Amino acid sequence: MENLKKQVGIKAAEFVKSGMIVGLGTGSTAAFFVEELGRRVREEKLEIIGVTTSNVTSEQAKALGIPLRSIDEVDHVDLTVDGADEIDAQLNGIKGGGAALLMEKIVATYSKDYIWIVDESKLSEKLGSFMVPVEVIPYGAEQIFRKFEAAGYAPTWRLTDTAEKLLTDMHHWIIDLHISKISEPEELARTLDLTVGVVEHGLFNNMVKKVIVAGADGIKIIEK
Ligand code: A5P
Repeated sequence: MENLKKQVGIKAAEFVKSGMIVGLGTGSTAAFFVEELGRRVREEKLEIIGVTTSNVTSEQAKALGIPLRSIDEVDHVDLTVDGADEIDAQLNGIKGGGAALLMEKIVATYSKDYIWIVDESKLSEKLGSFMVPVEVIPYGAEQIFRKFEAAGYAPTWRLTDTAEKLLTDMHHWIIDLHISKISEPEELARTLDLTVGVVEHGLFNNMVKKVIVAGADGIKIIEK
């Protein structure tokens, strides 16, 4: 599995050229992409500016010598490359397994081009095998949790190893929804968007046009 993740990470780095402002995703797959960019900065004198999607990725990129700016310090992002937790046949996806969905969605929204890199286990006909992370403001969050319970979304709190509510990089909490078959991801996204106290959710509908997938038969690129 690690090898497949590495393959797509390296492949995606081929789309990065000198002069680009590049969105750097979060997670174990995106980490291989960032590592490869670091190598190219060092060995090939690739000149890029990175915009990161989490504190973890910022630390990794800094250690690799990739110059960084925040999303507010750049006037555009040329390309963002990120992982995903589940992708359906229409290229809608679920993200946020690593709790970075808010920054990931913001950076993706302001990117001209956006690519996901995954191993083939992440592909499914319909979304729902992976939970839908919902980032909420702590004030009033118990009310939201009860509302999700009543709606039949089977919510659980995202917890730390010491069983406390996990605090995201933006100082919010995460409620994970366990909905086994999401037949209308856009309708669910609308409902979540309209819920007061919800900052963002992990449904990334219609955001990506290119997915690089690694599997037993090698690497393939799915395009919309
Ligand atoms: C981080 O919050 C996520 O959106 C990740 O991009 C996603 O969970 C994929 O992570 P892996 O590459 O580690 O599976």
